Amino acid sequence: MRILVTGANGQIGSELVEVLRERHGTGQVVGLDLNPPPTATDQPSRAPSSNAPFEVADVRNREALADVLDRHEVGSIYHLASLLSATGEQHPDRAWDVNMSGLKTILDLARSRPVEKVFWPSSIAVFGPTTPREDTPQNTVLDPTTMYGVTKRSGELLCRYYHRRYDLDVRSLRYPGLLSYKTAPGGGTTDYAIDMLTQAAAGRDYTCFLKPDTRLPMMYMPDAIQGTLALMDADADALSVRDSYNTGGLSFSPEELAATIQARVPSFSCSYAPDERQHIAENWPSSVNDDAARTDWGWAPEYDLEATTADMLDHLREGTPEHGDVAEGEHEGATA
Ligand code: NAD
Ligand code: SER
Repeated sequence: MRILVTGANGQIGSELVEVLRERHGTGQVVGLDLNPPPTATDQPSRAPSSNAPFEVADVRNREALADVLDRHEVGSIYHLASLLSATGEQHPDRAWDVNMSGLKTILDLARSRPVEKVFWPSSIAVFGPTTPREDTPQNTVLDPTTMYGVTKRSGELLCRYYHRRYDLDVRSLRYPGLLSYKTAPGGGTTDYAIDMLTQAAAGRDYTCFLKPDTRLPMMYMPDAIQGTLALMDADADALSVRDSYNTGGLSFSPEELAATIQARVPSFSCSYAPDERQHIAENWPSSVNDDAARTDWGWAPEYDLEATTADMLDHLREGTPEHGDVAEGEHEGATA
């Protein structure tokens, strides 16, 4: 049985597919996205090998997805295709459609086939202005203010319903903002941190679209991938949370990230010009409590802010030439 990853060209999908192919073999992992994967000519470091299975499809297209699941004999699914917070606020109708219809289609097809497990990521966007901001509990007020957050909380409830009602083994994490250097991020509010590191690595200054003291939960991609796989490997009986697990890693503000960068790049300077994404960020937690994930399935992130900054700057300087070359609006998440 093969593994299907939707949103396979995205920030998380592109790295998750790589790791799953190392674990299970290239032919065992099928990528799916709206567009074909990068080619060796376009982006040599991101191009999958020529025998890597890949399907171009829209996750809202039930017939196309059913065909992919059957043809590849899919036994587990990582459903990542989505619009993110900032893009979702620009295109709320499309965000609802892609995020909700896509998820419901995947869950319906999975429950009527021999699919053993489904992974679907939620987000800190499920929280809102009346949620406790510090050390946000696993079970607390969930009052999202963005369409993205509304789809994430609705999606969590849908996943839990399919588990209870149909015994479908759906598992989920509430990712915080993810930092990575291999693929440009796709229209999120937490993208400022990647943008800042990218500019600093290139010897440029940065103007941040959030206020300097806007502290948010964040995580380095290796921890996110490790956590995702640990959750999927866990014994089903150990999982007490079936909507979505809080997972914390880092918690920092733009001015703290800038100071950490300046310790390594003294010439770097950051200025601030908050835009509409400030409103999204200030309704999210500054840190989350992830005790349930630690207890149930051994969640244990490795990277602190220093280690993340050092690793990101090293890799960005080494030059993944395509990083940062995706112009705003070019990424599907941003054009949608
Ligand atoms: P991304 O925007 O980088 O990638 C999403 C991918 O989905 C893109 O390649 C896009 O082309 C594809 N896609 C969009 N609409 C589609 C459709 N209708 N059919 C098929 N493919 C479609 O996003 P990401 O950062 O990799 O996020 C993946 C998942 O993780 C999303 O569900 C997101 O909400 C969640 N998440 C991400 C973060 C983060 O910081 N990156 C944080 C919390 C949760
Ligand atoms: N990083 C994501 C965003 O900013 C959080 O889900 O949209």
